[in-house]
Amino acid sequence: MDEVSPGPSRAGGFRWQEPELLRRRRSAKWRAYPSDVLPVWVAEMDCVLAAPVALALADAVSLGDTGYPAGTGYVDALAGFARARWGWDGVTADRAARVPDVMRGVVEVLSLVTDPGDPVVVNCPVYAPFYEFIEHCGRTVVEAPLGADGRIDVTTLTDAFRRATAGGGHAAYLLCNPHNPTGTVHHRDELEAVASLAETYGVRVVVDEIHAPLVHEGATFVPYLSVRGAERGFALMSASKAWNLAALPAAVALAGEAAAPDLARIPREVTEGVSHFGIIAQTAALRDGTAWLDGLLAALAENRALFTRLLAEHLPSLRYRPGAGTYLAWLDCRNAGLGDDPAAVFLARGRVALTGGLPFGTGGAGHARFNLATSPERITEAVRRMASVL
Ligand SMILES: Cc1ncc(COP(=O)(O)O)c(C=O)c1O
Repeated sequence: MDEVSPGPSRAGGFRWQEPELLRRRRSAKWRAYPSDVLPVWVAEMDCVLAAPVALALADAVSLGDTGYPAGTGYVDALAGFARARWGWDGVTADRAARVPDVMRGVVEVLSLVTDPGDPVVVNCPVYAPFYEFIEHCGRTVVEAPLGADGRIDVTTLTDAFRRATAGGGHAAYLLCNPHNPTGTVHHRDELEAVASLAETYGVRVVVDEIHAPLVHEGATFVPYLSVRGAERGFALMSASKAWNLAALPAAVALAGEAAAPDLARIPREVTEGVSHFGIIAQTAALRDGTAWLDGLLAALAENRALFTRLLAEHLPSLRYRPGAGTYLAWLDCRNAGLGDDPAAVFLARGRVALTGGLPFGTGGAGHARFNLATSPERITEAVRRMASVL
């Protein structure tokens, strides 16, 4: 593959990683497939690590600071970020608990407010591990498909809440905002409708807000716990997606005012089991990495425009509605004659790895997810390979 240099630094020193260094990575994105396959699948980014994060880690290494975590620095950094970015003052240490990562936090929060066998509503198509983790903790998935416009459909959600509560157990709703894979950023009025419906049916709302910093210009991220009626809800936040820190996990579980007593029951084994290095990295990102984040968002905006243009030119049978958040592109390939699992065809015949849509639940068939967090050259090459299949 011909590759050019990833180009100059942007705001905060953001830049895409050099191709030869990407090939040396040992993470899932780079090792799951043979080296002739171009990976645009799992939610890892092809960027150089943000300097404030790299410096904080280097400092910790030089100190031999490899013990257990202490203090509220991570929650304080998230509080500062939430205030500066979203004008929201709702992150406070008395209603926050650090957790090992977002999905572990989801499971722990669900375990606080539901019992084994209880239903958990999700908006399919949705991040596949939602299904796996809900089932892993012994709860049952109830699907409430997003509408054709990729947004929450209140009628469908009402029906799902009705079904979830019919058995008399404790039902929960695991919402994803911004939504993976569609990139939908839910509006304040939609979230208020969710909160009101949840109150009516006695459903506890848990919102995965891991993609919250990745919202594009012109759109607004609304923290669920900031909306009217969300006092009994929970949210999970972390810097993992926006700063590419999956290898340095840590997350924060937040409770609405009326949910604080529930969150206080989270076991110490969970809150003490968080990586000290994860906390160091994520704290540095949230506290000192906002200029870098702006550089990333500018690069992603260009990538989305490029990708839209390339699809129109080379893959007109694919449908793509750019979402207002995330670096993920959800592709409707149903008119392309590639069957239920187009990613398998792109991989086998085009040597390009997308994420298949089937594990995202109802609505995933005939779809594939493309990761735009890479250089424009790689996006161009990936589309060329996809087009060669058709
Ligand atoms: C919606 C969503 N939640 C959670 C995760 C994983 O987060 P963590 O590694 O902190 O469990 C991802 C990763 O892509 C994601 O997209």
